[in-house]
Parts: sequence; structure tokens; C-alpha cells
Amino acid sequence: MKWRARAISARAKERANISFFIFIMFFAVFGVIVLTELLLLERPNEPARARYNEDMQTWQGRTETGSEGGEPLPPANIPIDAVWQPVAGTRFRFYVYSAYVERRTVAAVRIIAATKTRGADPVICRLWLPDNRTLTLKARVKAIRENWNLKYSATYVLCLLKDSGVKPQETVGGSISVIASASPNRPPTNLLTILDTEPQTGIEETLHICVKPFHYSYARDEWLVEWFEFNRLLGASHFYMYNESLSAPVGCLLDYYRKQGLITLLPWKLPIVSKAEIRTEGQFAAFNDCLYRSMSSAGWLLVIDVDEVVLPHRERTLLALLTSLRASYNPPSKAPSAFLFRNAFFYLRWEDDKEATAPLTTARKTRRWATPHALKNRSKYALRPRDAVELGNHFLWELAPGASSVGVPTDRALLHHYRIACEFGGMNCLTVPSTVDRTAHRWTDELQQRINTERKSLTIACPT
Ligand SMILES: *[C@@H]1O[C@H](CO)[C@@H](O)[C@H](O)[C@H]1NC(C)=O
Ligand SMILES: *[C@@H]1O[C@H](CO)[C@@H](O)[C@H](O)[C@H]1NC(C)=O
Ligand SMILES: *[C@@H]1O[C@H](CO)[C@@H](O)[C@H](O)[C@H]1NC(C)=O
Repeated sequence: MKWRARAISARAKERANISFFIFIMFFAVFGVIVLTELLLLERPNEPARARYNEDMQTWQGRTETGSEGGEPLPPANIPIDAVWQPVAGTRFRFYVYSAYVERRTVAAVRIIAATKTRGADPVICRLWLPDNRTLTLKARVKAIRENWNLKYSATYVLCLLKDSGVKPQETVGGSISVIASASPNRPPTNLLTILDTEPQTGIEETLHICVKPFHYSYARDEWLVEWFEFNRLLGASHFYMYNESLSAPVGCLLDYYRKQGLITLLPWKLPIVSKAEIRTEGQFAAFNDCLYRSMSSAGWLLVIDVDEVVLPHRERTLLALLTSLRASYNPPSKAPSAFLFRNAFFYLRWEDDKEATAPLTTARKTRRWATPHALKNRSKYALRPRDAVELGNHFLWELAPGASSVGVPTDRALLHHYRIACEFGGMNCLTVPSTVDRTAHRWTDELQQRINTERKSLTIACPT
């Protein structure tokens, strides 16, 4: 009996110990959750830390994130803009670059991202408002349409404000993070500044230019000066460019223009293999970042490459052309929001024009394809950013509700495309029917003067 009694009391004690242990564990887990929440809430208000830059470099060098790579990623400390940041805990690589207020198609924060084209991981967004409120939002992941069926694609993440009680305007100046739905409580590994897109007043007569990311092999700095100055003559006042990698002379030239406030030059280190996994340097993420980045300050945006210029036939500037094209519609609300320019190749291997009055490419190379390409085949375009939703290379994939795009007749303007080589190698292309087109000569003298002036400062800024 005595032995039995002792055994029972020992068991009871053991049970009490276990209960006590569970009780302690419960509070420990609860404590950890509360602490994590507190840290999450405080993060956006933390001051910038020196450690941050080191973190950036470590993850930029990596090719895999989250479970694909195994290694845990450092948490993001301060909101930033225009740096590719990883989303941790996804099955497939997922990066985010920038965040913009969307008021037109849906109330949302629109994030420029890159991830798996089909079957992307589901994500949520965590939003920190300027008044310190924190919200978790549902998100829609939407591949940008021009993805060439590659494994990865430029992507929109729409962080939906519906049912949140927050208006798009209230998110301006806040910060946002994209988090894998599979691990919603993990500290965020990305934090983006939310930028406004509301068009400022008085910007109707401004023209900005978007260019796809530069990479190292691009070395024609001489021609670039001509290209910049020609576009400035045509009315362009700002350029958005993305630095994947730059040769020293081109880097110096871009820096020279950047210091004058002419270029927004943004880093572009996307850890997804160009061409094999994603269309050339993720250029569709760049075009669409440029669209939303310019929306508040550009009345017009021109999307062209650095071997192209759009030349109007009657007007001196593209702004005058675009204003005139829009003015021909009645009522004005019916005027298109985007104008497509047909492409004509000017091969650099064709002979120099004997009537050229300056040693400029655009003055010397006047022979072009007799028949320009059809619309949407290599065409480029100008658009009102506020009326566009999704840009492609040769046309717009989506306009805001009610907006339209239209082709420009070749007697009003043409896309001059200065090419070094034939499209498919060899010299075959040089035998296509061609004609001499001296439209560019209308600007040659003025262009040469501007280039001479810039060259004087450039020999000091960028001695070769
Ligand atoms: C937000 O939090 C910061 C830091 O705790 C505080 O200084 C600031 O006054 C708060 N802002 C508002 C609008 O409550
Ligand atoms: C371009 O980016 C590289 C690093 O990716 C940097 O070293 C270089 O300074 C940048 N060039 C310019 C002109 O900003
Ligand atoms: C684009 O134009 C070229 C030249 O006219 C033609 O050979 C090619 O088939 C066209 N491409 C498409 C997709 O229509």
C-alpha cells in the first residue's frame, strides 16, 4: 500500500512538472510572436545603418533566394527604391524593384517584380503607412505579357487596397514589403518606398525618354553624344536609364549627363540569367518601371533604343508633332494617348551621303529601306504615361480605360533605326530596295553646334 501510494504521488508530481513545462513553453512561444510583431512594426522607422549596404551586396551576388538557395537572407531594414531585392521563402526566385501608387485600374500599390512566368508563388504585402498603421494586403501576381515564354518574366504584383479602408493617396510616402504566403510571419527581406504617380500640373509640354538596360558590350560613346543631343533638340528633357554594366567611356558619359540632371541612372542587377531565363536583361520590367517612374513628371514618354531617333517631317520638335497630332481630334477627349512610329533601317554599311555638311552619323547615313516596316513590327512609340498601364517593346499592351493608340503616317514622322550590321548576319540586307532620306539634314547644323559645345566640357570630364 505504502509503495503504491508513493508511486501514485510520484506520477502526480511528474504530471504537474509536464503541465508546468507546457505552461512555460506556451508563454515562450507567445513571447517570441509578440517580439517579432514589435520588431516588424518598428523596422521602417529605424535609421539607415551602415550594415545595410553590406547586406545588399551579399544578396546581390547570390543567384538563388529562399528555399532555392537554402541560406537565410538578412532582413530588410530601411525602405529603398530601384534596387532588386529578394522575396524569401518562395519556391521560385522572386525579386522586387519598385512600388507605385495605382489609382486607375484598381486601388492598389503596384510593384515592379520578376519571378516565374507561370505558377508563381502566392504572396501577400505588408504595408506601413506614414501614420504608423500597419496592414497586411492580398496580392495579385501578374506576368507582364511580353515574356517570350521564358521561365521567368517581368511581373506586376498588385497589393490590393480593396476592403483595407486605405485610399491609394494615403499610401504615398509609406513603405511596402512582398512576403511569401507560405511564411507570412518571416521578417521581410525586401522593403520598398512607395512612389506617387499623380501627374503634376503644367507637365503637358514635357517629353522624357525610356531606354532599356545598358550592358557592358555597349561601347559607342561617340554616337551616344549625337543621340543625346539630337533628342534634346527634338524636345526631350530627361532620360531614364538602367545600369546593368557599363564600359568606362559610356559610364563616364552617362555620369556627365546625370550630374546635369538630364539622366536618372538606376542600378539594374537582376540575378536571373538574361536571355536563357528572362527576356534580355529583364527589359520589360525596366520599360514598365520607367512608365510609372515618369508618370508624375512627364507629359509625354518616348520609348526608343540608343540606335534610334524619331524624326518629324514638318515640325522641329517631337512635342510640336505630338501636340499637333492630338489637336486634329474632335472632341479632344477622343484624341489617342499613344502614337506608334514605323521603323526604317538605315544601315551604317551603306555609303556616306555626299551632301552631308558635318561628319555626323545622322548626316552621313541617309540611305534607308524604301518601304518602312509595318506598324507593330519594330515600331516604337510615344505615349502619355498617365494613360498607359503596360508597355511592350513595339507597342503598348494595355492602356487605361478609355485610352487608345494609333499609328503615325510616314509623311508625318518615321523611326530612323541606325544599324551596324544586317539583322541575320552576312551582307544580304544591303540589297533591299532603298531610298535616300535627308530628313535628318534639317537639324545637322544646329546639332553639330551643340555637339561641339558638349565636347569641350566632355574632354575635361571624360578624358580618354
Ligand atoms: C510614428 O512613430 C514614430 C516613432 O515611434 C513617432 O515619432 C511618430 O510621431 C509617429 N507618427 C504618428 C503620426 O503617429
Ligand atoms: C554602374 O554599375 C556598376 C555596378 O553594377 C558601378 O560600379 C558603376 O559605377 C555604375 N556606373 C555608373 C555610371 O553609375
Ligand atoms: C516584319 O517585317 C519584315 C520586313 O518587312 C518581315 O520580313 C517580317 O516577316 C515581319 N515580321 C512580322 C512578325 O510580321
